[in-house]
Amino acid sequence: MTTQDEMKRNAAVKAVEYVPENEYIGIGTGSTVNMFIEALAASGKKIKGAVSSSKATSELLAKYDIPEVLLSEVLQLAVYIDGADEVNHTLQMIKGGGGALLKEKIIATAADKFICIADESKYVSRLGKFPLPVEVIPMARSLVSRQLLKFGEPELRIGFITDSGHEIVDVHNMDLSRPLTTEDQINLISGVVENGLFARDAADLLVLGRADGVEVIKPHV
Ligand code: A5P
Repeated sequence: MTTQDEMKRNAAVKAVEYVPENEYIGIGTGSTVNMFIEALAASGKKIKGAVSSSKATSELLAKYDIPEVLLSEVLQLAVYIDGADEVNHTLQMIKGGGGALLKEKIIATAADKFICIADESKYVSRLGKFPLPVEVIPMARSLVSRQLLKFGEPELRIGFITDSGHEIVDVHNMDLSRPLTTEDQINLISGVVENGLFARDAADLLVLGRADGVEVIKPHV
């Protein structure tokens, strides 16, 4: 039987094929991305540098001698590689389970192409089983949570501070049948920094590790 970790690793290894040499790329955060960084290093493929979405990713890039660059130092990012907590058939995603959603969304917006890497448990017909992470300014956490009651059941991620010094409120049991609208509506609440719905910044390609191999999926529209 293929384990979930094996499926993640197979997707991560396959994704290296989509990395162009001698370009700048963006790299996300999470266990699947960690496997991608290892696979990229093992491949010997040379990139100009990587923009990192978190301290954890930066540490791993340094360990493998992959040069890190700041987003402000580059004009173009050929591709952004990242995992997801859920991804639907149009390749819209919920992200932020690891709390790095703010920088992840900024880099996803900046990149020419978003390639999502995941195991098959993440591929869903409808988003919303996974709670939606919302990054908030700490002083506004109660104010924002009261507004989020209109969308679902907010729960503060206790004891968690993001790399940018904010807090996360996870919203359970949401109706995410209109991801584009919900993404925008939540970002309009004062005190919200960003939310983990990636509907505007949906992936261009999904590299999905399955029990019987890796499937490369384009968005179904
Ligand atoms: C990090 O904030 C998240 O967006 C991750 O990309 C997501 O949680 C996927 O992580 P795993 O690869 O560990 O499942």
